Amino acid sequence: MIDLDAARAILRSNDLGGYTVPTRGLYPFQWNWDSAIIALGWHCFDEGRAWHEARTMFDGQWDNGLLPHILFHSDSDSYFPGSEVWGANSRIPSSTVSQPPVWALAIAMMLDRSKASAAARAEVEALLPKLLAHHRWWYRDRDLGKSGLVETYHPWESGMDNSPAWDAPLARVPRVEWEYQRRDLGHVDECQRPSHGEYDRYLYLIEFLKHNHADPRRMSTSSPFRVVDLTIVSILHRATRELVSLCQQFGLDSAIPDLEVQLARTRAAMSGCWSEDHRCFLNRDKVSGTPLAERTTASLLPLFGLLASERQASQMASLIEEWLAASRFSLASTHPESPRYEPTCYWRGPVWLHINWMIADGLTAYGYDDLAREVRAQSIKCIEAAGGYFEYYGSETGEGCGGGEFSWTAAVALFWLAGE
Ligand code: DGY
Repeated sequence: MIDLDAARAILRSNDLGGYTVPTRGLYPFQWNWDSAIIALGWHCFDEGRAWHEARTMFDGQWDNGLLPHILFHSDSDSYFPGSEVWGANSRIPSSTVSQPPVWALAIAMMLDRSKASAAARAEVEALLPKLLAHHRWWYRDRDLGKSGLVETYHPWESGMDNSPAWDAPLARVPRVEWEYQRRDLGHVDECQRPSHGEYDRYLYLIEFLKHNHADPRRMSTSSPFRVVDLTIVSILHRATRELVSLCQQFGLDSAIPDLEVQLARTRAAMSGCWSEDHRCFLNRDKVSGTPLAERTTASLLPLFGLLASERQASQMASLIEEWLAASRFSLASTHPESPRYEPTCYWRGPVWLHINWMIADGLTAYGYDDLAREVRAQSIKCIEAAGGYFEYYGSETGEGCGGGEFSWTAAVALFWLAGE
């Protein structure tokens, strides 16, 4: 049994007034994709608060459309690196990269769930131009070559920070040589977090962005870390489809043709990411121009993005059956057969329930209802085994890992697991 009162209590206690922290201490600010998932959770019991979450996030949007991955609404000494390290010149102190663009989808879902009430329509009307600017930023500044596949310049932008898929591209990034004190290790056991070598390189990339003023042209030609991340590509595609539908409903027809061009470009480019041998899609390293042959849950998200053909979906479904069977708790974020699989280390193996939701949703869209039900059952099993809402769950033991009282996991329970 999952405890929905406890899920609601987590959102309330992580509410800092207009924005919800992922968890206290470890992540004391507003995170972009967390916040979109969290808004869906709020929407199940407090619609006004859900829209407030969205408004606060978009208050931090840059003039060029970038929606930062972190908004540092207030000071906190429980997190490093803070806004001074990023050095952004923004209205609300922020980071200089974005995160998987879930917002248009979340807003479309909230509108739908509120049965397009007048209040919800007014919120969408105000947010729609900002959503458009957000998506245009991705297509314009992160795909200068109009390839259909947007680029990413920091593992934190992908959201899957220490995914084994990033090992090779990150290895060529220099390490910073200055001393710093990590704060995450004061909250979470070291073995569940990225390594010091990874942190040194994350910081180098922040400095690189700062020295280059996050300029798209400079980043796309000289960033030492430059990848096509399927999490972003898939979510962007799915969310842009929702954005087209919102534009139709709200009379913004003039914005649609350009979005349709982008959607078609991405669909056409996806065949280049498919691997027949792996039976899934693969992230790409843009520096070396090679596929990143690591099966992580990002490889499955094109199902959520509605970017797979029927034949590809059927191969992925058989892969997912094996993937589910390969660890006691599923879906492991890295395929358990990988030599880089680590069942309790952040994005190298643990189960993340918002990703499970996306994969189950994609499976349903392609008609694999039984498999989708199994992914959902596995998600409930994690919450039960750990006895609560954690950041992620050990894929062999179901133990709660990372931060506790975690907002997006509680939100997923409210808007997904509570249904049916
Ligand atoms: C962190 O600090 O671990 C975050 O993932 C950065 O977004």
